[in-house]
Amino acid sequence: MASRRISRRRFLGASAGLAAAACTGDDPEPIGTTTDPAGESTNSTGTTPTTSSTTTSTIAPITLADAPDWNGSDPFSLGVASGDPDEQSVVVWTRLAPDPLTGGGMPGSDQAVALDIAADEGFSDLWSSTTVNTSPDQAHTVHHLVDGLDADIWFFYRFRIGSHVSPIGRARTTPRPGDATELRFGFSSCQNWESGAYAAHRHLADEDLDLMIWLGDYIYEYGPGNQGVVSSAGLREHNSPEITDLPAYRNRYALYRSDPHLQANHAARPWVITWDDHEIDNDHAGLVSEDGQDREAFLARRRAAHQAWWEHMPVRLDPPSGDVFEIHRSIDWGDLAAIHMLDGRQFRDDQPTDGEVVPLPGVGDLVRRLGDTARNPDQRMLGEEQQRWLIDSVQDRSSIWTVLGNQVFMHGLDAVPGDQPATNTDTWDGYHANRAEILEQLGGAGADNLVVLTGDFHSSSTADLRIDPFDRTGPVVGAEFMAPAISSRFPAQLVDLAPLVLGFNPQIRHFDPANGYMTCTVTPDRWTTRLHTLADVTRDDSAIVLTATADVVAGSPGIASVTTS
Ligand SMILES: [Fe+2]
Repeated sequence: MASRRISRRRFLGASAGLAAAACTGDDPEPIGTTTDPAGESTNSTGTTPTTSSTTTSTIAPITLADAPDWNGSDPFSLGVASGDPDEQSVVVWTRLAPDPLTGGGMPGSDQAVALDIAADEGFSDLWSSTTVNTSPDQAHTVHHLVDGLDADIWFFYRFRIGSHVSPIGRARTTPRPGDATELRFGFSSCQNWESGAYAAHRHLADEDLDLMIWLGDYIYEYGPGNQGVVSSAGLREHNSPEITDLPAYRNRYALYRSDPHLQANHAARPWVITWDDHEIDNDHAGLVSEDGQDREAFLARRRAAHQAWWEHMPVRLDPPSGDVFEIHRSIDWGDLAAIHMLDGRQFRDDQPTDGEVVPLPGVGDLVRRLGDTARNPDQRMLGEEQQRWLIDSVQDRSSIWTVLGNQVFMHGLDAVPGDQPATNTDTWDGYHANRAEILEQLGGAGADNLVVLTGDFHSSSTADLRIDPFDRTGPVVGAEFMAPAISSRFPAQLVDLAPLVLGFNPQIRHFDPANGYMTCTVTPDRWTTRLHTLADVTRDDSAIVLTATADVVAGSPGIASVTTS
C-alpha cells in the first residue's frame, strides 16, 4: 500500500504517556517547523507542507552536537521496530547498543538520538527530524510515539547519531472506521535461539502485510544446551546460564534481536506483541515459578524480566513500575477487526495438580485427567480484572471480527480418551470452566465473529471452538488458529502420536508439527488464514511452503473450509 498525502496536522512530533520519559521536552517540535496559533505544524518557510511521495521537503535533518563515535562500533546493532498503531500514531523503537551482547556498551549517562520521519525510503520527502533522549535506566532504548499522522498511511523512519544511521523502518497507521476494507497480518510465536534458524522471519519480512502479531516466547530463559538440539544440529547457543536478573535478560534480548531476519521483520511493519512464559520462566503461573522459587525472589526476577521485555518491545505502554505490569490492550483496525491482546501468564491461577497424571513422553506431569480444579469457575486464566476488561472491551466495540491474541490453545485436546479427557493443564483445558464462562460472556458481549490467535504449542492447528470442547454436541462459537513456532520444536516423540490423537479431537480441523508462521487476510465477509511451513528449520536459507489454507465466513462461526496443498 502506497503512502498517501498527509494533512497539515500530519506530524506534531507529540510525545504522550510512554514517550514522555524518553523524549526531550513534553512536546518537541520537528526542527525547521513552527506551530501556528491553531496548533498546526508548518515548515520553516511558514507555508503549509504539501508533501507527497514526489516532493522534496524543506525540513532540514537535525544534526546532533558532540555525537560520539564509539570507535566505529554500530550503535544501531539491534535494528529498529515499530508497534501498536492507531489511526494517527505509532510507536517507533531502537536501542543504542554499540556492544549489544555485554550490557550494550553505552555510558551511564543520557544520550540524544535524531529521529527522521519521511514519506519515502530515500528520506528526500522529510516530514520531520527531531531529537529523542535515551537513558541508562531504560537501556538507552527509544519508545517514541509518532503522532499527528493521517489514518491509513505508511511512512519511513530512521535514527541517526553522528555518522551512524540506523536501518530504515517502515510503519503505518490504522484505517478509520468505515474505511477498513482489508487487513493482512502475519502471526507466530516461540523462537528458541538454540532450536533453529530464523528463516521464517526472512520470509515474513518479504510478505505484504500490514501488521505482525507476536504471541509470546520472544526469548527463552534457558542456559546453553537446554533443548538438546544444539550439538547435533550445529545451531546457535545461548549466551549465558539461565537468566534471572536485569543485565542477563537485557543481554538475552540483545542476542535474539541481533538476528538480521528478525530485525528485517521488525523493520517491515508494526508489530503487536504479547508475552508467554519464557520471557520470564517456563510454565510459570502468576508468582508460582517453574522450580518453586521463593516468592520474593521470583517477584524480583519477574520485575527484571518485565523491565527488559518493555525495553526491547515497541509497545504503547508506560515502562513497568511496581510488581504488576498490565500489558493487555486492544488494537482497532477501523471497524473491521478489534484485536484484544491478552496476558495469560501474570494473573492466572496455578496449573491444576488434582487430576490423575497421564504419562506421555516429553511432557512431564502436565497431562492430567480433567479434575475438580479445572472445573472450578474460580480457576482463572486471565484473572478477574483482565477478564472483565476483555468483555467490556468487546462490548464497547462494533467491529465485524473479534480477535483474541492469546498464548495457549483454547480448542481443547483430549490426548488419551478415558473417563475424563486427558488434558494439558497449562492450556485453557486447565481452566475449563473459566473458558466456558469467557466464551459465553464474549457471545453475550456481541463477539459474533470470534477468531482466537494462539502460539505456544510449537505446532499449528486450525480448529472450531466450543463452549465445552469435549461436548461434541455443543454449538461452534468461534474459530482458532494456532500458528507454528518460528524455531522452537514440537517434541519429536509426539509427532508419531499426532494422527492418533487427532482422531479423538474432531474439533481440530488441521494440524501440522512443522515450523513457520501463518498469514491472514481479513475482509468484512471472509477471513482467510494461510499456513506457511519451513522446509528445514535448521537452515537460514530454508524455503517456505504454503501448506494449508482455511476460511471463516462472517456470520457463520468456526472453520468453513480447509484446503491443503
Ligand atoms: Fe514456546
